Amino acid sequence: MANETIKTAANAMDLSELFAGVIADFKPDSSVQKVGHVIQVGDGIARVTGLSAAMQGELLEFTAEDGRVISGLALNLEEDEIGAVLIGDVDAIKEHDVVRTTGRLVDVPVGEGLLGRVVDPLGVPLDGKGDIKYDARRPVEFKAPGVIERKGVHEPMQTGLIAVDSMIPIGRGQRELIIGDRQIGKTAIAIDTIINQRDTDVICVYVAIGQKASTVAGIVETLEAHGAMKNTIVVSASASDSAPMQYIAPMAGCAMGEHFIYTGADGKPANSVNKGRHVLCIYDDLSKQAVAYRQMSLTLRRPPGREAYPGDVFYLHSRLLERAVKLSDENGAGSLTALPIIETQAGDISAYIPTNVISITDGQIFLQSDLFFQGIRPAINPGISVSRVGGSAQIKAMKQVAGSLRLDLAQYREMEAFAQFGSDLDDATRQILNRGARVVELLKQPRYAPMPVEQQVLVIFAINKGFADEIEPERIGEFRDGLIQYITSANPEILKAIAEQKQISEETEGLMMEAIEAYAATYVDE
Ligand SMILES: Nc1ncnc2c1ncn2[C@@H]1O[C@H](COP(=O)(O)OP(=O)(O)O)[C@@H](O)[C@H]1O
Ligand SMILES: [Mg+2]
Repeated sequence: MANETIKTAANAMDLSELFAGVIADFKPDSSVQKVGHVIQVGDGIARVTGLSAAMQGELLEFTAEDGRVISGLALNLEEDEIGAVLIGDVDAIKEHDVVRTTGRLVDVPVGEGLLGRVVDPLGVPLDGKGDIKYDARRPVEFKAPGVIERKGVHEPMQTGLIAVDSMIPIGRGQRELIIGDRQIGKTAIAIDTIINQRDTDVICVYVAIGQKASTVAGIVETLEAHGAMKNTIVVSASASDSAPMQYIAPMAGCAMGEHFIYTGADGKPANSVNKGRHVLCIYDDLSKQAVAYRQMSLTLRRPPGREAYPGDVFYLHSRLLERAVKLSDENGAGSLTALPIIETQAGDISAYIPTNVISITDGQIFLQSDLFFQGIRPAINPGISVSRVGGSAQIKAMKQVAGSLRLDLAQYREMEAFAQFGSDLDDATRQILNRGARVVELLKQPRYAPMPVEQQVLVIFAINKGFADEIEPERIGEFRDGLIQYITSANPEILKAIAEQKQISEETEGLMMEAIEAYAATYVDE
């Protein structure tokens, strides 16, 4: 027995040496260019024969009769033919056209030149502002860094929305899902978050999937108007683009963002001295990408699974979202934060794609239409929204005030049903209802008005300390905005102290109490 173990070990040694030799001698031959032909084409899908050497996910070159070259992606490798999706001008390709393998994966141009631009998923400009100067190319699919190359998420990615930054804080490198029915403010949250990055070191990538071209044009205009386009890339595969374009868009946008986390400001690879940058990627939305993928898969005759989606749609989304990362210091400490968006039907989060993406992300911002139509906007339900990264993504000052805010709101939601009994309530319950109604008002926020974190801390502090308890709920918004204006001009040192020390020191707390009292006095007099 012992002898046999030794013998097996010896054999294993021989084998591993043998393999080492084979691996050392292996020279990948990227010059091999196999040529095949299209045997059938339709709906952006081509069946190709004669390309036995093609790799899964390899970039193919289709040459149309008029000489135009169209890209394709090898997806179904079968024994004597392959199924490929055409990307770009799909109608140019006909039966019998020539197809070549390239030995490369599908890649997109990346670099500083993309900032401020609107492009399609292949990096072709859509904004009529002329050619783009690229620094390099990156494959659209990229294996996410492992744990060793990462470190914990610890810096805040401020959205500028009080409801999110206080109760569902997002950290740089996190994946937070924005989910809800149509037309209740999902895109609005994403756009406000981009606007809030305009004066920061964060580069934003907004990927529009399956939206109307006019909607995307409106978003670009909004970003321009708020000075947020200069550090933003917009990638658009609109509803009128082919399914493969919509399918590839989020991966392409991710690759364009990824370039910046692996590259320092000098354009050289990031490392412990040459810091990588911070990126925010928004995929609006992955429901439409899943539908495009389903369409492609059915046309490729892959077996349909649950809700007719192909079985690997989960893998598609997990590969994409795993690329959100906070890199370790040795890797330049850059970060890529992902905010995927999912549209639900009648609030049903138990459908296939929503459950998938919920399970892949680190938390969700749930929007609800009943809240939206009650005028609670952003229509976030804080009860079921979470961020699993949580407090480590908040500055200390926010942690100091946010805890009691969440508690006030939760108690309010519990007691709300009793509100109708009016005068029969005991004092404690009445106090909870009073405070809760004011917190709800505090969290309402108009679009395009992101609030710096120190201002958020100030207004939450004022509510916590009861300064607004006597003010009618309808006037809380006015009270809040007035307070910020007042402190900004009368006691700017308070906001400065919170912003710089990132905490509420005893001294700051004293100053705040005094200043807010003075403001509240002028407010009541009015
Ligand atoms: N905080 C808000 N305050 C006021 N209106 C809002 C707010 N958020 C969204 N809206 C409005 O609601 C509508 C739908 O928003 P949108 O973000 O496009 O929804 P979705 O992306 O969920 O379909 C838009 O007209 C938008 O202006
Ligand atoms: Mg939207």
